[in-house]
Amino acid sequence: MGLKYLILMIAFATVEINLTESRQNDKRRWKSDKSPYSHYVNICDIQDRVSKVHCYCESIKIKTATKADCWVFNGGIAEDDPFWSNFYSQPKIERLTFNVRADGGLTFIPAKVIVRLDHLQFLNIQYANIYSIPSFAFTNSTTLREITLPKNKIVKLEKMAFAHLIMLVNVSLVENQITEIAKDVFYFLPNLQRLYLAKNTIEVLHDGCFKHLNNLIKLDLYNNLLTVVVRENFQGLSNLITLDMRNNKLNMIGDLAFAELWSLQELYLDGNEIKFISERGFGGLTQLKKLSLADNKLGMLDDGVFDDIQKLNVLDLRNNNLETLKQETLRSVIDNMKTNYALISLDGNKLTCDCRLAWLHKLRDETRSKRIKGSLARLNCIMDNKLKTNMINIKVQQKTEVPNKINNLQITQKHDRNYEEIDDLDDYDDTLQDQETDLDASKIEYRRKLLEIPKDMLPCPSKLISEASYSPPTQDEVKYYKTSGSESHISLDRILILCILFKLL
Ligand SMILES: *[C@@H]1O[C@H](CO)[C@@H](O)[C@H](O)[C@H]1NC(C)=O
Ligand SMILES: *[C@@H]1O[C@H](CO)[C@@H](O)[C@H](O)[C@H]1NC(C)=O
Repeated sequence: MGLKYLILMIAFATVEINLTESRQNDKRRWKSDKSPYSHYVNICDIQDRVSKVHCYCESIKIKTATKADCWVFNGGIAEDDPFWSNFYSQPKIERLTFNVRADGGLTFIPAKVIVRLDHLQFLNIQYANIYSIPSFAFTNSTTLREITLPKNKIVKLEKMAFAHLIMLVNVSLVENQITEIAKDVFYFLPNLQRLYLAKNTIEVLHDGCFKHLNNLIKLDLYNNLLTVVVRENFQGLSNLITLDMRNNKLNMIGDLAFAELWSLQELYLDGNEIKFISERGFGGLTQLKKLSLADNKLGMLDDGVFDDIQKLNVLDLRNNNLETLKQETLRSVIDNMKTNYALISLDGNKLTCDCRLAWLHKLRDETRSKRIKGSLARLNCIMDNKLKTNMINIKVQQKTEVPNKINNLQITQKHDRNYEEIDDLDDYDDTLQDQETDLDASKIEYRRKLLEIPKDMLPCPSKLISEASYSPPTQDEVKYYKTSGSESHISLDRILILCILFKLL
């Protein structure tokens, strides 16, 4: 055993000696080389411990590395530092990363490096402190395919910052502090497909700022501060497939806001403050399949609002303030919603349980989409006031052990229509309101699974409205009349006093 171990040790030691020897041979050859590179330090094998930059490469032999991970330390490095020319030692680098450790360690795009690397395809810089990206920062590279610059405190993009980069496919500027996108920042990028601008503080998109990006397929503006969206923002984006504008500050969608986006298939507008969508707000989106409007403030939708998006089959309206969703609103897409992978999500709204939602029963029965069936099965609606009283009745009667809920509902509904009895029903409401602590629990009671209420049991608003006009005033209404009445008394008194004063004068 011991002998074997010793032999192994010796074997390893010789291998190591051979390796270091060959490395030194390399260096010697390198130094004696008459090539113009001979005086440069191999950036993949920096011995100087106080060097401001250290790179780790997959191969440290001279002129062989294709991948370099560089760290910037020690008080940073200036743009004109002679160190940059050492990148000539590794001209085959395809992937280059700069990680900046110290604040202010790197305050610019190292153009001197980019211009020297004829094979550079992927450039990644993070945690630097780069205030602005100047014109032609990437030196018209004909090889760069992807530029990712996350978390660099970038505020300003100068005109032509990204320009004349014929191979560029992806650009990411996520998690910076960019405030606006001016015209001609992105210029002559014939192959750009994806542009990520998420997690910045963009407030303004200047008209036509993306107009040179005819081949862009994905634009990500997630988590910015945009308050308006207009057609001019998206000029030229005729091939865009996905637009992500989640978590901005949009409060309305005006006419034809997305009409330049002829090819758009997915539009994400979740997490804004959208209250209103113009009837032609989605006009021109003939290819749109997926529309996501969750977590907004939509109270109602115009009947024609989805008429132009005839291919829509995924619609997310969760967590809005919708009181109902009329069948007419979905008239042009209802057939799509019956296909396999369709989805409508309506959870987290204030849907009222009434006949305007009866069509969802039909949709549940007719759709082939398991997602729609599931989502509809979970869907809650809120009992309208009149129905509320019915439900209280049920509760009261249930205490006296009446077996069938639905039968009760029918009975009490008939009662309800006979408005002479409403007085009695309102009494229930009053006693309930007196017991403040019970109120929340009772509210939960009024939530019902929409599809568990039989279709013909859903009341119709017109009937409810006519009933409401006969119903006696509510407590609040009474209070209102009382106070407004006493106010008019006061003003009459004042007029009287004024008249007397007048006479006296
Ligand atoms: C890049 O190309 C453009 C157009 O040919 C030229 O105007 C510009 O000076 C070039 N910039 C650099 C840094 O090479
Ligand atoms: C661009 O990004 C996409 C999506 O992340 C990726 O699949 C693709 O490989 C990237 N292309 C290049 C050239 O970096």
